[in-house]
Amino acid sequence: MNTILVTGGTGTIGRHVVPQLQAAGHTVRVLSRHAGDRGDGVEYFAVDLLTGDGLDRATKGVDVIVHLAGGPKGDEIGTRNLVAAAERAGVRHLVHISVTAVDQLPLTYFKSKLGAEQAVRGSSVPWTVLRVAQLHDFAWNAVRAMAKSPMLPAPGGLRFQPVDVRDVADRLVELTLGQPQGLVPDLVGPKVYTMTELARDYLRATGKRRLSLPIRVPGKAGKVYRAGGNLSLTGATKGTHTWEDFVAAQV
Ligand SMILES: NC(=O)c1ccc[n+]([C@@H]2O[C@H](COP(=O)([O-])OP(=O)(O)OC[C@H]3O[C@@H](n4cnc5c(N)ncnc54)[C@H](OP(=O)(O)O)[C@@H]3O)[C@@H](O)[C@H]2O)c1
Repeated sequence: MNTILVTGGTGTIGRHVVPQLQAAGHTVRVLSRHAGDRGDGVEYFAVDLLTGDGLDRATKGVDVIVHLAGGPKGDEIGTRNLVAAAERAGVRHLVHISVTAVDQLPLTYFKSKLGAEQAVRGSSVPWTVLRVAQLHDFAWNAVRAMAKSPMLPAPGGLRFQPVDVRDVADRLVELTLGQPQGLVPDLVGPKVYTMTELARDYLRATGKRRLSLPIRVPGKAGKVYRAGGNLSLTGATKGTHTWEDFVAAQV
């Protein structure tokens, strides 16, 4: 039995990972900024990774860390703090979730995620990094936000491989219970969809109608997207749950 610390264990992905690790018989700790006892057998640590205060207490005696905590910015700073604490605590394995195309897209979020990945890969703690495509939940929320406007932006040439949170959690648990493996194949959804297809499915499922407003994503990022540089078309692990099933479950 190991002691496993899940950072971001209260988040969308973490909520699916924590019970599986408990069910496998491990002692589970969860770290996030807003943590309080939930009476579920998990020990919660309220730590902001951006300051790192309290990290030594949270990592003391930990065998494995699953690093899922993340936000829109500062992940490289938080991850550096976590890695330093993991090194001090003699953690045996650090499993880190990253994002597909993290080294391709010149956007702030991806730069920050790349910095986080580099902190893990440069660490003396044996590590595993899994790059994951956008979740179904993320794609759904993105289209819902875009559909707030009467004209739905339709960025030409954008394609995605949305993946289900259950597939992500299952793979993370498998990696966490195994040996450190370095950078493993990306995890993506079973199919590629254009942004227009994702938006169409959202509108159909919710019974909404919107006029389509063709737009062109500018700059280098637009070029990468139009060339499919954000996609993992070969060698990736594919999830089993489909976008269609996810959409059906939303309504
Ligand atoms: N969602 C996707 O489509 C997707 C795809 C690929 C990779 N990822 C990566 O997977 C990870 C988890 O994603 P998610 O969708 O589960 O995110 P999420 O639902 O937003 O959850 C984020 C988690 O991190 C914690 N957190 C955020 N900032 C923190 C900080 N400064 N210090 C400590 N804890 C902090 C949050 O709790 P508190 O707010 O209480 O601190 C929460 O538990 C992220 O690193 C994300 O970049 C996500």
